[in-house]
Amino acid sequence: MDSMIGVIGGSGLYDIDGLEGATWVKVTTPWGKPSDEILVGRLSGTPMAFLPRHGRGHVHAPSDINYRANIDALKRLGCTDIVAVSAVGSLREDYRPGDFVSVDQYIDRTFARTKSFFGAGCVAHVGFSDPTCPRLSDAVARAVPAGITLHRNATYIAMEGPQFSTRAESNLYRSWGADVIGMTAMPEAKLAREAELCYASLAMVTDYDCWHQGHAAVDVAQVIRTLTANAAQARDTVARLPAILAGDGPGGHTRPSCPHGCDHVLGTAL
Ligand code: ADE
Repeated sequence: MDSMIGVIGGSGLYDIDGLEGATWVKVTTPWGKPSDEILVGRLSGTPMAFLPRHGRGHVHAPSDINYRANIDALKRLGCTDIVAVSAVGSLREDYRPGDFVSVDQYIDRTFARTKSFFGAGCVAHVGFSDPTCPRLSDAVARAVPAGITLHRNATYIAMEGPQFSTRAESNLYRSWGADVIGMTAMPEAKLAREAELCYASLAMVTDYDCWHQGHAAVDVAQVIRTLTANAAQARDTVARLPAILAGDGPGGHTRPSCPHGCDHVLGTAL
């Protein structure tokens, strides 16, 4: 099948480098407006689509993002895979600010967001025990440049925000086994699954969340400082991804369908 890689950029990542024929495209969906226009082009011959999750100018707060429109717009453009770039706080000593994290499990503590494309009149229950795609996650991990510390198989707790956690909450999440905390992966990953898209995360640690006694409580300036320092490595990771994914398949941007079944989950969900 033809593949197109969608990249959802988080805070600090508002476009991607080296996209041939790059054009911002307006996509309309039955779910309303996506966060922004979508930058479409090719990298190493592979079709790519980039959507800034918070919009250019960072205008949408995590609770106000139209996650359904974002996922649907990428699907309509032809995306088969989505790499979700995001900033996260660390809940562990050994995940340091500046490190990259590949998430493979989520705990969803968000409560003020629409979480499904299905509902009145059409109910579906997709499997979500393994919320990220192993094939895509492996490719993303291989694309991370040398010199960056990458932690794999991490658990991400999604909080509603926009305030950061209290210390009691931060300690509770640590006791639950969560490794990182953020505000945007849910319901994005759930909706990507419902849309039969492969989904992988590339999270960047910007701070130790407030549990850490040796560090000042997290603030936005600190998050932005770390993100800015890391943006080049996130861009490099995205730039290296198409060649790695193409190398996994028969070549070009044609690949066998997902061996983990991400692209046909609805067959057993309805
Ligand atoms: N995003 C970046 N750092 C965070 C934190 N400490 N808590 C929630 N979301 C974050």
